Amino acid sequence: MVVEIAPSMLAADASRLGEECQAVEAAGAHRVHWDVMDGVFVPNLTFGPDVVAACRPLVKLHFEAHLMVVKPDELAQRYIEAGCETVLIHAETCPHLHRSLSAIREAGARCGVVLNPHTPASSISEVMTLIDEVLVMTVNPGFGGQRYIADVEPKIAAVRHMIDASGRSIDLEVDGGITASTAKAAIAAGANVLVAGSAVFGHRNGIAVAVRELQQVSTNS
Ligand code: DX5
Ligand code: ZN
Repeated sequence: MVVEIAPSMLAADASRLGEECQAVEAAGAHRVHWDVMDGVFVPNLTFGPDVVAACRPLVKLHFEAHLMVVKPDELAQRYIEAGCETVLIHAETCPHLHRSLSAIREAGARCGVVLNPHTPASSISEVMTLIDEVLVMTVNPGFGGQRYIADVEPKIAAVRHMIDASGRSIDLEVDGGITASTAKAAIAAGANVLVAGSAVFGHRNGIAVAVRELQQVSTNS
């Protein structure tokens, strides 16, 4: 299985976001993961769509927006316009999840559902035909640099089972506390996309070495 690496810009140098996107591309990562926070759903505030749009022309990499916001519907459209190919919305913020996902698809982007650590795998069972991706949080969202929650692994495995049973091509991504050591278990449970912030941008030997280390875990798994 090919495992993709998606560095989280939350851990990048915020004064040089464009250059950091370019560094991630040069390092061989597959996607840029934008953690969008509204200060309400999570107690932190990050990148608006204009910031993402400003970085878009600098790289060819796939952009994905992880929306940690209480009202994702209107914002999803803004991030698609900003150049995000994938938009990920939290099950916990969407009383009309089917409608929200359909709207993202109709706007021409890939769509996915994010599950907080406490949210059961069953919350996606009725939207499997609509999604391109499931993101299982391995920390409680809001901040980078938190400790990986291994208790979530049975849920990763359950989602993998649901994906395989669906017969559809749906990515299974994990996000939070992913390092070369925690990635192993997440991949073994069924993940095929790794979001990593601190492990990439905080690596003492630089971004290129960090991405290579995560890729090595993937190929050895
Ligand atoms: C948490 C974000 C993550 C986070 C990952 O709310 O969704 O993407 O930035 O950061 P690390 O890899 O440092 O846990
Ligand atoms: Zn994220």
